Amino acid sequence: MMQAVIDLRSDTVTRPTAGMRAAIASAEVGDDMFGEDPTVRRLQDVVATRLGKAAALFVPSGTMANQLALRCHTQPGDDVLCSDGAHIKWYEAGAAAALAGLQLVTVGQGGFFTASELYETYQPERTDQASPPNRLLCFENTHNRGGGSIWPMQQLQEVAAAGRLLGMKLHLDGARLWNAAVALGLPDAELAAPFDTVSVCLSKGLGAPVGSLLCGPVDVIHRARRYRRMYGGAMRQAGILAAAGLYALSHHYLRLAEDHHHARRIAEVLSDLRHVAVIQPQSNILLFDLSPPLPDAAEVTARLKALDVLVAPFGPRRVRLVTHLDVDRAACEEAAQRIRQVLCDAAL
Ligand SMILES: Cc1ncc(COP(=O)(O)O)c(C=O)c1O
Repeated sequence: MMQAVIDLRSDTVTRPTAGMRAAIASAEVGDDMFGEDPTVRRLQDVVATRLGKAAALFVPSGTMANQLALRCHTQPGDDVLCSDGAHIKWYEAGAAAALAGLQLVTVGQGGFFTASELYETYQPERTDQASPPNRLLCFENTHNRGGGSIWPMQQLQEVAAAGRLLGMKLHLDGARLWNAAVALGLPDAELAAPFDTVSVCLSKGLGAPVGSLLCGPVDVIHRARRYRRMYGGAMRQAGILAAAGLYALSHHYLRLAEDHHHARRIAEVLSDLRHVAVIQPQSNILLFDLSPPLPDAAEVTARLKALDVLVAPFGPRRVRLVTHLDVDRAACEEAAQRIRQVLCDAAL
């Protein structure tokens, strides 16, 4: 019998379930460019309400949601402050500079920062107008490059308050906000409250095939709608995608806790291995570092691939894996044992 591949490269690899496909098939649709797609409108209302924001805009990707926020809050030549590991800095193809004319200035280390680090980095406007206005402060929760790490709530609130005091706008890249909310046992709205705008993704842990939303005040979302068109992201009968998102929110939200549990279980299986440093997962992303004599991350990834376990090298000696809807408890256990075996064999 052919062995099934256990794909832990990302939570974006999920395929729509039968129930989700049924929801897609029966979705009511209209032309969303005219604001006439009832399912898109419903999704936007549902997500705006969940996040405690006045309005939301459905867009094709998390990258577009973030980029619309950057564009709406800034002018070309502004500085945007963000963490050293921010998705907007590493993985959005240079869009902040290319599309909005922005400089990204990093604060703190490891994805998080403190109010005093923000005060140290912030550049007040000079009377000679030589310095770029520090217009926008971006957060990411959970933090992808940090291994799905979660901002401590008090620190988040303190830093957000400091950003406000400095007169900055605040944006949250909440691609995996749902994971943070489930892990902390808090409502989405509480995590979204400090921010002017929040982007969220349906196509990650929630398992929808496509789609993200930018949420915020009515005037900002109104402007974002125009930029969405400019960036080529305005869609027509997008209700078939919105239906998948609505289905995902009502069927796959609470089960994110299982993914977190699975990541912790894999971490546990690997925790006592020599030359392996496991970063304890806080949500659904697990990172581990390999030191010599173990081979590097690319080689370990290749050896695991030969055993039908797909993970991602994440730096020369760091491996990343992400648990999700399409990998159940038994598959995670199996993957953990195969990873353990590969690392034990390699250490001999
Ligand atoms: C934190 C974060 N923000 C934004 C995105 C971008 O999402 P998309 O791939 O839909 O553009 C991702 C994707 O993994 C992400 O992890």
